[in-house]
Order: sequence, then C-alpha cells, then structure tokens
Amino acid sequence: MSFSLASTLPAWQALQNHYENVGKHLVLRDLFGKDSSRFEKFSHTFKGLKEQDGPIFFDFSKNLVTEETIKLLVQLAKEANVEGLRDALFAGEHINFTEGRAVYHPALRNLSDKPMKVNGKDVMPGVRNVLNHMKEFSDSVRSGAWKGYTGKPIKSIVNIGIGGSDLGPVMVTEALKPYGKQDMELHFVSNIDGTHLAEALNKCDPETTLILVASKTFTTAETCTNAKSAKEWFLSKAKDTAHVAKHFAALSTNEKEVTAFGIDSANMFEFSDWVGGRYSVWSAIGLSVALYIGYENFEAFLGGAHAMDNYFRSTPLEENIPALAALISIWYSDFFGAQTHLVAPYDQYLHRFPAYLQQLSMESNGKAITRSGDMVNYTTGKIVWGEPGTNSQHSFFQLIHQGTKLIPADFLIPIESHNPIDNNKHHRMLFSNFAAQTEALMLGKTPAEVKAEGTSDEIVPHKTFVGNRPSNSIIAKKISPASLGALISFYEWVTFTEGAIWNINSFDQFGVELGKKLAQNVQSQLDTEGKVDNHDASTNGLINLFKTGF
Ligand code: F6P
Repeated sequence: MSFSLASTLPAWQALQNHYENVGKHLVLRDLFGKDSSRFEKFSHTFKGLKEQDGPIFFDFSKNLVTEETIKLLVQLAKEANVEGLRDALFAGEHINFTEGRAVYHPALRNLSDKPMKVNGKDVMPGVRNVLNHMKEFSDSVRSGAWKGYTGKPIKSIVNIGIGGSDLGPVMVTEALKPYGKQDMELHFVSNIDGTHLAEALNKCDPETTLILVASKTFTTAETCTNAKSAKEWFLSKAKDTAHVAKHFAALSTNEKEVTAFGIDSANMFEFSDWVGGRYSVWSAIGLSVALYIGYENFEAFLGGAHAMDNYFRSTPLEENIPALAALISIWYSDFFGAQTHLVAPYDQYLHRFPAYLQQLSMESNGKAITRSGDMVNYTTGKIVWGEPGTNSQHSFFQLIHQGTKLIPADFLIPIESHNPIDNNKHHRMLFSNFAAQTEALMLGKTPAEVKAEGTSDEIVPHKTFVGNRPSNSIIAKKISPASLGALISFYEWVTFTEGAIWNINSFDQFGVELGKKLAQNVQSQLDTEGKVDNHDASTNGLINLFKTGF
C-alpha cells in the first residue's frame, strides 16, 4: 500500500486553488440565503442504534463549505487511500508499523459472531473470555457476593491508572452516572501527586475497598508508585498479604509484572498489545465501568461503538459521517490555518468528554513525520479543547465570537435529559443556548444591526460581531451506554481519517517518552544529597531550589 505526502496529492492542490478562489470568500449567511435546502444537504443521520438509544444527528451545514468543497475533500480522502488503511486496520494488519502492531480495538466491541484475525489467529475467543470474566466479576461485586477479607461486601472502587487507563473510565462513568450503582463509590487516582491518592483513600475503608490497578504496560511510573502506596495503605490494616487477593485486581497486558506486584492471576483481566492505551476503555481497562453501570450496560456501550464501526467500514466516503467530519476539520486546519478545535458538550454528565478527546486526538495525531519518514510540510494534530455548555459561554466564548482566531467547534446535546427538572424547563433553556450559540457564531451582528439598536457610533465597532464562524451540531436522542459508545467511536474514526490523510502513524506515542526518561534522571538526583550542576542553568537552579527550599 502506498501513501504520499498529503500536499503532493492532486486533490490537495485543487483544494488550495478552491480555497483561494472560493473557500476564503464564503459567507455562511449567503450560503443559507441562496440554498433553502442547505440544512438537508449537509446534515446526516446515524441510524445504527436501537430505537431507545438513537439516532444521532450531525448537522454540518454551518460550515464554510460548498458541495464542490466536499467533493474535493472526498477526492483527497480517496487519493490519500483512507479506505485502504481502514481496510488494513480491519484486516488486522500491523498498521502501527513503528511498534509492529495491529490496531484492533474494534475487535473488543465486535459483538457479532464474525472472527477477527491478527497474524492469522482469531482473537475473538480471547476477547470473549475476558468479557465473561468481567461479567462474572462485576456481577459478583455488585450483588455483594464478593466479600472483602472481613466478610463485608465492596462499597468503594479505586481505579489507579493514567492516560488511557484513566481518562476513558473516568469520562464514561461520569457520562453514564444515571446508569450507575448509586451506593457504589468510585474513585480515580491518576496523578503521582500524593494528594490524589490520599484524598481518594481518605474516603475508603480497606475492608470494603476494591483497588483496580489499570495499566497496559504495568510499568508506568505513576501507576506503579500509586499502586504500591495503595497496597501499603491496605496492608497497614489488613496485615496479611493473603488478603490482597480479595481487594486488588489488575487490568493489564503484562502478566509477569502483575504477578511480581502480588496480584492473584485469577484477578487479572488481560488484553493484548493491539489495543492502544487511548483505545482501551473497551477492553479490561473498562472494568470500573462494568462494575459501576453493570455488565449489560457495558455490553450496550460496546454495541454502540460496534454499530459505528460497521457504519464507518461500509459507508461510502461521500456520506460517511466520521470521514466527512474529519475532512471538514482538515479543510480548516490545513487551508484556513485553524489551530484548534473546540468541543462543547451541552450535557453536564459529559464534562470530561473534551479531556478524553484531547488524548484521543492529540496523542494520536501530534506527529510531524510521515509514514515514509519525511517531515510534513503542512499542519497536523489540531489542539482539542472544551468545556460543557453553558458554563463555557460564560468563560471563553467571548474569544470565539469576537477574537481574531478561527475556531471550528462541535456542539453536542441530547434531546432527552436524564433530569427533566421543572417540566424540562432546564433542558429547554440548555437547548436554547446550544442553538443560539451556533446561530450567533454564524450570523454575527452587522454594524447596521448594532446601530439600529440605538448604539452610538463610537461603540458600534465594539458591539459588531463578524460572524461567519463555523460549527458542527451533533444531536443525540439521549446519552445512553449505546449512544455514548457510538459517539466515542465516531471521534475515533474522525481521528483515524485525519491521521490517514496527513499520512502519519496515529498509533504510537514516542513523544511522551523523552520527558519520562528525564524525570527518572531528576528523580535520582532528588533522592541523593548535594548540589546538581549537570543540566542547563535554569534546570539546575530549579532542582537545587527544590532540594534546599526557600
Ligand atoms: O504516557 C503515554 C501513555 O503511554 C498513554 O498512551 C497511555 O494511555 C498511558 O501512558 C498509560 O499507560 P499504561 O496503561 O501502560 O500505564
């Protein structure tokens, strides 16, 4: 399979011309004015979910695109061989070639009876074994049949992990709180800052606490150190290491290190190296999710993602929702020069969704070297950020409306609220804001409109909004396990398509290694006496300040 530097593709050149001649002159107000069917033309419905969970509606009409733009972008995806890479991924090929691995998280949510093979071997029996283990274990803990070392049922779960071994479980358990076991306390400890662990353990009793050590590699410094301290905390009360088996479980690919840590192999939930950390919430790493929302809901979550996988795999690029979202995003990044992408979920339960998407997108596509080893000559890896609405409106939206930067945005909302307080008035207000913001971003406010309000001439420029700022509106029926699964999978395929077009390997993350190595070096200097002088002057100064204090 051959892939080229994206900027050398004919469609890229055509898009550049199209940007100069058409794209940069587009005015959304006019586009809607000229075409009464624009909304219908540029919106899509994902119908892959059961009636109670779906559909999910995607409105791309408030984007600076014409039908010609979409045609050229789809052509770009074809020339970049997005379909070829997608098929290679689903065929279990080692498309993460820098690490010699398949990228096979779709197998984790393959609820069909179809085999999925890596190196000629069907991985599905192994996947199903782990799922059965997760079901048995979560049923037992949730029902109270699983007892701690003094015979009491489990009340608190502490998930110790970082990055993908934390962000997925945190985001999903928060998003699906209405489905959670209300008397189960969940804590997530990720930071090496002792405060994070201390604050969680302060609220727990070793007799009724289950600690999940979540780490793909089981070598991550933060997780190993936090897990060791948690074990000391547990043993300070339980005394006997034989009791560890009732209170610790490991979610990992590394059996050797799990055993060395002292966790019973019966309490180990495995997955394989073809699951990337940021794609691991679907694997054993999702055990805290299954414990909290119950196995059936966890399976529905997998099912939603599976439905989106099938859709992405089989839908022509011209109508393929994740592919189109990625292409429109590339249009802004690489032709309009947008640097960031805002995600604003209008759903309080989704408050960690932007943080989750940051790892998914930025760890995947924060790369500058193509798959052939050349430096790219275009922008990759957009900066993803966001906060829930309406809070975000009252903090940073000023900059989006009237600042100098172009910030494409995703606005996300469910039609049904889990908390229809005051005859659903809150939700109607939430939706009003959702709709009004995208409208305001698009329409802006002309000087004439401001003046007509009786504004004095010198104030008119300050109250004028240029408008013409693009957004996607995503409307789910409700945030359920299945629709959340589908939404996450949607963003995974957006990320995949972007990486494929940029011709980078979206599946390794060597960029985080350097800092980790240097931290080990500094750590050993903090553990020994004496002044440090082998770094640059600034780093020496900072380390010595920490050692001596003020
Ligand atoms: O530091 C980056 C990273 O490797 C992420 O990709 C990963 O999700 C995280 O660290 C945690 O890794 P592990 O699950 O192996 O502890």
